[in-house]
Amino acid sequence: MAQVQLQDVHKIYPDGTKAVRALNLEIQSGEFLCVLGPSGCGKSTTLRMIAGLEEVSSGIIEVDGQDIVGTPARERDIAMVFENYALYPHLNVFDNIAMPLVARRTAKPEIRERVERIAGTMGICEHLTKRPSKLSGGQRQRVSLARAMIRSPKMFLMDEPLGHLEEYLRIELRREIRALHEATGGTTFYITHDQEEAAAVSDRIAVMTDGVLQQVGTMADLIDRPVNRFVAEFVGEPPISMFNDVAVANGQIRLGDYSVALPPALNRAVDASPPVSVGVRPGKFSIDDAEAEGLSAIAQSVQLMGEWAAILCDTPAGPATALAAKSELPSEGARVKLNPDPEGLLLFNKNGRNIVSAEV
Ligand SMILES: Nc1ncnc2c1ncn2[C@@H]1O[C@H](COP(=O)(O)OP(=O)(O)OP(=O)(O)O)[C@@H](O)[C@H]1O
Ligand SMILES: [Mg+2]
Repeated sequence: MAQVQLQDVHKIYPDGTKAVRALNLEIQSGEFLCVLGPSGCGKSTTLRMIAGLEEVSSGIIEVDGQDIVGTPARERDIAMVFENYALYPHLNVFDNIAMPLVARRTAKPEIRERVERIAGTMGICEHLTKRPSKLSGGQRQRVSLARAMIRSPKMFLMDEPLGHLEEYLRIELRREIRALHEATGGTTFYITHDQEEAAAVSDRIAVMTDGVLQQVGTMADLIDRPVNRFVAEFVGEPPISMFNDVAVANGQIRLGDYSVALPPALNRAVDASPPVSVGVRPGKFSIDDAEAEGLSAIAQSVQLMGEWAAILCDTPAGPATALAAKSELPSEGARVKLNPDPEGLLLFNKNGRNIVSAEV
């Protein structure tokens, strides 16, 4: 286990690209931390700096209180998995998985026992004598994971390890990864594009954009208490509905043709930091009949997602997405009313800050 601390870390590539800026981040000992963010936001660069594969331009990276910036990658006791992790093509699966133990001169009977155990966990026992070229993509990725996780290093660094796999395999393997993380007691830094995967495997999620860390928290923190508009709009599926140029008066916020009374806590924050936009998560809208009170809406499109459907609506305040149970779907083109839960309103000031967190 290792506690990792990044302090004011910057990475500027030789061509001038500022890939990571003023990054302060702590990964707790034994924690599974996921990183989410758009393509090019600096996720892999951060991982590679922790690994020692990329130099830090300035700042400090400490592992268990020791500065590791000058320590070569091979001395950092880290296991890595990448989306396209090259296996040794001339070695069979057993020897590929055994490689980290062979390199550490582990006794042969122990190697056999550990390879067989992890191959069992990964469901690849029947492939141990095959060469990687005879395996499917999903099986190869299991071999890479088994090879990375056969040791108990201080830390696992994984860069979209399930990225190109089919969904059913991703769901199965993320369970194995989480179980192995717990079994080995390592600290895991895990990059993914998949929010559902991040929520399923991680203890906390770090959201980055444009080289800058925005927020670190649980999925519930990011959904219910996003610090700014970026996090509010990037995290959450289906995405949040965001209404711009909103007006607040007399404790009420005007949304199109409807006014919502602000709960007391929000009303207090409004005075200190006037909001210019308001976000509502799809689950925070209830869909009512056209005759009811509420924000006028026309259900333009109904997108079924299992037992629920996302209802994409047009409203006088702008486009909005609400959720409806499969048994209560409005028909496309139907006139309805949307009623936001006042407690679920997220208000943002002109700098895009959540006015509640901007207060503190
Ligand atoms: N070797 C390099 N030289 C110059 N710029 C680079 C280099 N590697 C990455 N970059 C740039 O640094 C920024 C961050 O890249 P990085 O690979 O960390 O992004 P990422 O968040 O991992 O993206 P993705 O989700 O697409 O993998 C990008 O603008 C990228 O173009
Ligand atoms: Mg990357």
